[in-house]
Amino acid sequence: MADSKTTIIETMASMEKGMATIQKGFLYNQKAMILEGVDTVISANEIFVKVDVKAFTNGSKATQVISNIHGNLAADAKKFKKAVNDNKFANATKIYGEMVNDCVSCHTVIRKW
Ligand code: HEC
Repeated sequence: MADSKTTIIETMASMEKGMATIQKGFLYNQKAMILEGVDTVISANEIFVKVDVKAFTNGSKATQVISNIHGNLAADAKKFKKAVNDNKFANATKIYGEMVNDCVSCHTVIRKW
């Protein structure tokens, strides 16, 4: 797992890009941009299926917590996408907030913030 650190940093850059694209899509009322952003987040989040998260936690009990948060983000992103597809944009912005919370929750555990 020598390159897992590089992989996670690249993946997180995609996470950040996806979230920024969503926000821009809201601000410019561009539905296609919002959907592009959430798809970026969804595919980036799949890293936690492919990569062994123990690489980031040194095998501590945080491993289970991280895998739960990864699941929450996957579920929220799916809910988000449905809200956008249904043109429920006010609801979508609330779910966007929950997604930001998922990002921060995981970082809090990992960084002991
Ligand atoms: C399940 C855990 C988890 C989730 C969820 C998560 N991250 Fe991360 N993130 C990490 C890990 C692990 C690192 C690398 C260790 C560190 O930076 O503390 C990281 C680092 C980062 C970094 C810093 C990268 C760098 O260059 O140092 C950014 C930016 C980031 N994540 C963005 C996001 C965004 C945006 C989301 C939500 C859409 C998100 N992350 C969700 C685990 C997660």
